[in-house]
Amino acid sequence: MSEVIAKLQEDHRRMEVILGVLDRKIANLTEGNNLNLFMIRTILDYIVNFPQKCHHPIENFLLRSLTRRNPQAGAISAEILNEHEMLANIVTRFVHDVECIEPGAPILKDELVATLNAYEDLLVQHMQKEEEFFFPAAEEYLIQADWDVIETRMRDKGDPVFGREADREYRALHKVIIEWGGK
Ligand SMILES: [Fe+2]
Repeated sequence: MSEVIAKLQEDHRRMEVILGVLDRKIANLTEGNNLNLFMIRTILDYIVNFPQKCHHPIENFLLRSLTRRNPQAGAISAEILNEHEMLANIVTRFVHDVECIEPGAPILKDELVATLNAYEDLLVQHMQKEEEFFFPAAEEYLIQADWDVIETRMRDKGDPVFGREADREYRALHKVIIEWGGK
């Protein structure tokens, strides 16, 4: 397996773990529990920004390469790109709902849970599609030069799109969130 695909799959596993923590924090959310609310907002920072800054740019690069090497296999691109947008829209709605929570005011927990469930359902089937169809197709059709370009950029911490600096920051944040999850 290429280093790139291994990283993307690891990102998926990390996202699943984070969602487990978020589920528990939302279930325990009560009025006036400001620490819990702070944790939820930090988790949302990860969920919104990590894919956008560190995960989707790599997938989008692979999708473009796949479309170039094998247009038929690349046809899945439109679907995946569309889902990236749908996921961003749902999570934006969720962030807005969380931002609207006023200290001490009643919390509309059923609505929060419904939006979160919609996000998680779509994300799980989306990651499954990527792992079952898109990643194997990329491994089959991309040529070594494609992997070389992206692996070099991933190792270059100064790279504005694939550089490891932001990735490292979010990995550190992930660790903090997981520690909270155990509390
Ligand atoms: Fe992905």
